[in-house]
Amino acid sequence: MNEHKAQLDLGDEPVELDVLEPTLGLPGIDTRTLRSTAHHVTFDPGFGNTAAARSTITYVDGAKSILLYRGYRIEDLARDCTFLEVAYLLLYGRLPNEAELSAWTADITNHALLNEEMRSFFDAFPRRAHPMAVLSSATNAISTFYDVYRRPTRPSEIDAGARTLIAKLPTVAAWAYKKSIGEPYVYPDNQYSYVENFLRMMFATPLEEFRADPAVVKALNVLLILHADHEMNCSTSTVRGVGSSRANMFTSVAAGMGALWGPLHGGANQSVIEMLQTIHDDPSATIQSTVDRAKDPNDDFRLMGFGHRVYTNLDPRAKVIREFASDVFAAMNTTDPLLEIAQELEQAARADDYFIERNLYPNIDFYSGIIFRALGFPTRMFTVLFAIGRLPGWIAHWMEMNTDPETRIMRPRQIYVGEAERPLPRIEDR
Ligand code: ACO
Repeated sequence: MNEHKAQLDLGDEPVELDVLEPTLGLPGIDTRTLRSTAHHVTFDPGFGNTAAARSTITYVDGAKSILLYRGYRIEDLARDCTFLEVAYLLLYGRLPNEAELSAWTADITNHALLNEEMRSFFDAFPRRAHPMAVLSSATNAISTFYDVYRRPTRPSEIDAGARTLIAKLPTVAAWAYKKSIGEPYVYPDNQYSYVENFLRMMFATPLEEFRADPAVVKALNVLLILHADHEMNCSTSTVRGVGSSRANMFTSVAAGMGALWGPLHGGANQSVIEMLQTIHDDPSATIQSTVDRAKDPNDDFRLMGFGHRVYTNLDPRAKVIREFASDVFAAMNTTDPLLEIAQELEQAARADDYFIERNLYPNIDFYSGIIFRALGFPTRMFTVLFAIGRLPGWIAHWMEMNTDPETRIMRPRQIYVGEAERPLPRIEDR
């Protein structure tokens, strides 16, 4: 067989298909012409075996626990970079030099303020509103203040849209939280870094001076970097899918937030804590009974924070978090009984044949919630923190898709298994 061709035997003439070579990872069989030339479609629910695009942003080797952003190891980026530096890397494909980083940081800092009319937007939501619903709605709402973002055409307009979103999302997130607890909104302040500003807007009150703990700032910076991109995951594919209709960046990202919120994706970090809390509080929910429930085919309960479409080994992000969990607890001078329960649950699951046979390991969400808790965040904000971290990844993918000549509107095919054509019965005959 030709090195760059694949042959498919459908009974008649063999069909020859191009093979697309990657820099890293598996080559792809190009099936774009299969339907028109061989009159077949491919079947792949959940797209577990389908490459949606050629991308240069992120590489995951799920068997070797490797995650690279633009070729750099996640562990190195988490150790040495700021979140805004990594955001620049994801968006523009290279690390900024000192002058570029300081200009980019200043630009983001200067745009953190929301239009004052947005206050009434937060006021209108009920206090019990989940902050993910507020975040997603606000992402669309921000764009209504800037006509150009409805359909940006020039690269400078797209860059401005990206900057606006990254600058304002922490303000939106913090205000959604302040609204939910009935405290006054705190405005961003240019003297603070991105992460410090967010912590201030979350936790400061008019009653006293707020000083962000440097250990909290460092830990949150690392957590945001770990969440910043993960190639074609559910929410990113949603952003790309919506954007493929040439919808603007804001509405595409807002749709991605909806996908992220689900408990099988970013919502898992909240579900993990709820699961651990149940084990802690409910004497009938032991570690073993929780593992047994997850294995029961008649129970749709899953061990939250376990398993991954791509990783057949430990998620490298979970590894970083697990390793620095003890540093965070030491720096904060605190403990959490849920950390011990999580460790025991991990041990029990990893010793169990069901989880071994299926290569189910902890993913990023298994330990991230415990750290978010230690840093003082309420459980309902966990998926919001994930969204702030993932934002540069979503935007980078939207930008890549927007300039990729191979982009087509996302429109999968189906294999129809419904009724064949039949006559319409009159109502009295049904
Ligand atoms: N608990 C129990 N069983 C599991 C779990 C789990 N957490 N995850 C997968 N399995 C089982 C499935 O039941 C299935 O078993 P079967 O072969 O006997 O039918 C097998 O492992 C394969 O699972 P799939 O659902 O086919 O795997 P898929 O790649 O479609 O799903 C997912 C991946 C959604 C992450 C899944 O592992 C899951 O639901 N995990 C729990 C939720 C979670 O932690 N989500 C966060 C993911 S990370 C992120 O989004 C940032």
